[in-house]
Amino acid sequence: MIMKIAILSGNPKQEGLCQSVIGAAAEGARAGGAEVDEIRLCDYEMNRCKICGDGWGTCRTENYCSFGSDGFDEAKARLAACDAIVLATPVYWGETTEAFKSFIDKLRRCEFNNTGTLRDKQVLIIACPGGSGNGLLTCLDQMDRFCRHTGAIIFDYIGVNRWNNDYKKQAVKAAVQAIAAGRENGDTI
Ligand SMILES: Cc1cc2nc3c(=O)[nH]c(=O)nc-3n(C[C@H](O)[C@H](O)[C@H](O)COP(=O)(O)O)c2cc1C
Repeated sequence: MIMKIAILSGNPKQEGLCQSVIGAAAEGARAGGAEVDEIRLCDYEMNRCKICGDGWGTCRTENYCSFGSDGFDEAKARLAACDAIVLATPVYWGETTEAFKSFIDKLRRCEFNNTGTLRDKQVLIIACPGGSGNGLLTCLDQMDRFCRHTGAIIFDYIGVNRWNNDYKKQAVKAAVQAIAAGRENGDTI
């Protein structure tokens, strides 16, 4: 069966540093024989979590968002249909972009009982700081926490900036190719 890899993207741009890194990830997936679904969260008009009731709503009791018709349900379904995941975002204020954050804020709630959208899937975490290069670690940490809240398995972390993208893009491509070929966190090579 052909592996399907989702690239969950927080990038609003169609070109530039972050998009070229996403391109390297897609290249790696295809080189490893996998199909790619690039989920561009900035293309959705997704709302923030409305924090139902006294803090929890149907996300906890029934594992769905009552306001999911804003694109959340669709993006979640696309992610659930994939076998492995690349998280990729530019760094904004030391965090993921706002579109990315809104989505993962809602998704981790719906995955409170680990219903399977990310559970046990290999996840490669990528952050692209652009200007100063500051904020890389806090952005990676934000995505790390999301993975731990949702039962995902963190395959690796890669930070890519203006002055290292020549060799880091090669690492991104190689990492996704390895995932596509079936390598998992913990395999000794
Ligand atoms: C609102 C905003 C906040 C940003 N915050 C940071 C930051 O904290 N650290 C950093 O290195 N770059 C920051 N950047 C720059 C982006 O990370 C940069 O545009 C992107 O990572 C890579 O370049 P690209 O736009 O060519 O893809 C910020 C950009 C915007 C629009």
